[in-house]
Amino acid sequence: MNNAPIGIYDSGLGGLTVWREVRRALPGESLVYLGDGKNCPYGSRPREEICRLADDAVGTLVDRGCKLIVVACNTATAAAIGFLRRKYATIPIVGMEPAVKPACLATRSGVVGVLATERSLDGELFRRTAARYGRGVQVITAPGRGFVELVENDREQTAEAEACVRRAVEGMLSAGADQIVLGCTHYPFLLPTLKRVVAGRGVTIVDPSPAVANRVGQLLDEFGLHATPDRLPAYEFLTFADEAYRQHLAAKALHSLR
Ligand code: DGL
Repeated sequence: MNNAPIGIYDSGLGGLTVWREVRRALPGESLVYLGDGKNCPYGSRPREEICRLADDAVGTLVDRGCKLIVVACNTATAAAIGFLRRKYATIPIVGMEPAVKPACLATRSGVVGVLATERSLDGELFRRTAARYGRGVQVITAPGRGFVELVENDREQTAEAEACVRRAVEGMLSAGADQIVLGCTHYPFLLPTLKRVVAGRGVTIVDPSPAVANRVGQLLDEFGLHATPDRLPAYEFLTFADEAYRQHLAAKALHSLR
């Protein structure tokens, strides 16, 4: 079991921002990345549908023999993590937590912005996390409208992307936010654009993916599941879309390591 791969799943290309951090933190581990692609974006789909899609994806990774699974999608985590952990109870499953806690602890202005998909923001997981850590802090949320489509089409560095980002963060910036949480795994691909838009405003951008990679390492320790050092890691990419999309996944993964 130790040399079985870690499975990482997202609606599309976004989870590659988590894949990259897991690969960095755990260079000896083999990884199977499943980017649905066929049903992306998930962001405004009904909860039941996302649950069914997440079940198909996690089931596929389980059939591939994965020893641990990362649901590298905030939207699927919000909709399905409880269900997935019950159904696949013998496999550790790591989900995405909106990084509201570190942002609320770090804010000096008392205003924190959160960017995420509609479905993540109206979910129980986000409401609970914001209520728990956001006491005394003003938490302003906004959906990253168009962000997922920009990333899926490699259009992160365009004027259109800059306009979308500007629109999304306008409200939180004018309210004085000094922390902006990225609550969707696609959004770190827009980091250079986001940094340009908030330049000079004293804003810290919080990306939870390094913390998720850490958590994966802790669970491998806990379950004694680290790969043995005599094996070279392998990286595999899967999708429910077509071969062109699968190749796009592999190329974007490689590009994300630069
Ligand atoms: N990357 C995803 C997330 O973290 C899903 C985005 C989408 O498919 O709408 O929420």
